Amino acid sequence: MPVNEGPGQLAGDSTALPVAYKPASPEEASAIAAGDALFKNNCAQCHAVNDKVVGPALAGITKRRPISWLLPWVKNSSKVIASGDEYAVKLFNDNGKQQMPSFPQLSDKDIKSIVAWVNSQEGSSAQTGAVAVR
Ligand code: HEC
Repeated sequence: MPVNEGPGQLAGDSTALPVAYKPASPEEASAIAAGDALFKNNCAQCHAVNDKVVGPALAGITKRRPISWLLPWVKNSSKVIASGDEYAVKLFNDNGKQQMPSFPQLSDKDIKSIVAWVNSQEGSSAQTGAVAVR
């Protein structure tokens, strides 16, 4: 029985996924697809996964910061900086005190989707040529 076909494959959205990365579940696949669109619409003018643009490269972000930091940061980074958070203050200073815009319209789920997309992109570049077999 073919495993690569059928309704579970999210026809239409799957083109957004890097070839080498295989999401562990349909939920993850749809989160990544949603995150891809959200990233392009909200973040891509200043961020890339592997290169610094205006803001830092986002590769490895979940290794640097827990999601409990990322959610309030994306919603309102200046509030996190103003709270005296050491990492945030340093990051702000290291980036020429450039203010990242606030995204109060993004839900926790939206932000987690963006993070899932970032992680999927990293995965694909870190293991170039790898065939994900599970
Ligand atoms: C107008 C430019 C701009 C946009 C748009 C933007 N950012 Fe940023 N971002 C920055 C800058 C500049 C920093 C560095 C911190 C600072 O200067 O405040 C940053 C920092 C970050 C960090 C911390 C990175 C690290 O290495 O710790 C994360 C995570 C982040 N941004 C995520 C996002 C996400 C997600 C979006 C879209 C929803 C987004 N940013 C949109 C400019 C931007």
